[in-house]
Amino acid sequence: MARYEIHGGNLLNGSVTISGAKNAAVAILPAALLVPGKCRIENVPDISDVRILLDIIRGMGAKIEQPEPNVVEIDSSSIHCTRPDDTLVKKMRASYYLMGALLGRFGHAHVALPGGCNFASRPIDQHIKGFICLGADVDETDDYVALTPGEDGLHGARISLDMASVGATANLMIAAVLMPGQTVIENAAKEPHIVDLANFLNTMGARVYGAGTDTVKVRGVSALKGGTYAIIPDQIEAGTYLAAVAAVGGNVLVQNVIPKHLECITTKLQEMGCRVINYDDAVRIQKTNRLRRTTVKTRPYPGFPTDMQAQICVCMSLASGVSRLTESVYETRFFGYCSELERMGANIRIEGKTATVVGVEQLYGAEVTANDLRAGAALVIAGLSAQGTTLIKNIHYVERGYESIIEKLTALGADIKRIED
Ligand code: EPU
Repeated sequence: MARYEIHGGNLLNGSVTISGAKNAAVAILPAALLVPGKCRIENVPDISDVRILLDIIRGMGAKIEQPEPNVVEIDSSSIHCTRPDDTLVKKMRASYYLMGALLGRFGHAHVALPGGCNFASRPIDQHIKGFICLGADVDETDDYVALTPGEDGLHGARISLDMASVGATANLMIAAVLMPGQTVIENAAKEPHIVDLANFLNTMGARVYGAGTDTVKVRGVSALKGGTYAIIPDQIEAGTYLAAVAAVGGNVLVQNVIPKHLECITTKLQEMGCRVINYDDAVRIQKTNRLRRTTVKTRPYPGFPTDMQAQICVCMSLASGVSRLTESVYETRFFGYCSELERMGANIRIEGKTATVVGVEQLYGAEVTANDLRAGAALVIAGLSAQGTTLIKNIHYVERGYESIIEKLTALGADIKRIED
């Protein structure tokens, strides 16, 4: 089991280049299964979730080439299997997109229930409800979901989601592209990666309208064709580096970003006392004085992202005064990291959906455990800001979503090493 060893206290200075968005990549790569031809996908992050997904897709018979770093060419014309490898599927959350892709392309699918970061109960009932609206018969057990065409065949439909689920919106968009008729997804998620998925599908010949609003319409087409597409920069990776500078101090240019996607994060960091300058595709953050307290409530996009909850909590832990952090997407997400931050000297009280964070002058190095991806990212930030040495266990979670994190942080001046036990 590898660990990170961090000697805290070094300011972060210089520039960092943000990779392609994980949550867009893990939807777009399965969506390429709809295309019986070659899709060239650029700006693909080199992270373990993507590597697992490519292994799954390769195992199903697709030809995959990686002609240069961060470029993946998928040719799905030779797919021969609609039952992806159970063990690999269980290793990641986003493998649920294989259900939509296989249902859309072949009309049936047999996919194990996904694994991944289990910081909360993460049902997929909205995905299933949508597949049923699209005409599928669903056989769901504790282990797998099997989809087949119902009596009336597969067809476009009106689907009203009970909550604006990112996964269900994307999965149903993927499933519906090749179905006859029109699909309308109401109460759709509006996250940047939903728009990115729609842009990818449309580049390959789909007719998806309204992505980024509450209502997404998909007009079924009879076939898609290959093409080239570049994935958007990762909003959460960028937000994590911004939060790191806010917590640790320094002056960093965060490059290859869409500043609009970061507004919900940069506004908060400015409120806490950071200086932020937006450029066309970069954001500079400077932090010199102690952070000020703030209040944050996580919400679906364009609100403050739940995937930045843990990172902003580290900033709050170091701010003057008492901050409040309310989670409205996944109530149990605090439990993944707050107790670990407390081992480093943070003062956090959780009551229901809200954490009250009493700022402390300093965090101290400790041996801590990452319990999920963003919890791990928060512990890295805490370790960088802390006095002394921090050892982080379970770093495979961090490596699911952050490309070259050691190299990127080291280039900014951090003292962080990956140690193989
Ligand atoms: N929900 C249901 N039923 C469903 C689907 C969702 O009750 O069928 C609930 C969830 O339990 C949650 C809320 O609806 O309370 C929102 O869940 P959503 O479906 O939007 O989340 P997801 O698709 O499972 C994606 C990201 C997560 C991110 C959330 C929220 C991917 C692969 N994952 O998850 O990313 O936290 O949206 O933005 O896109 C991460 O990157 O660290 C991560 C966990």
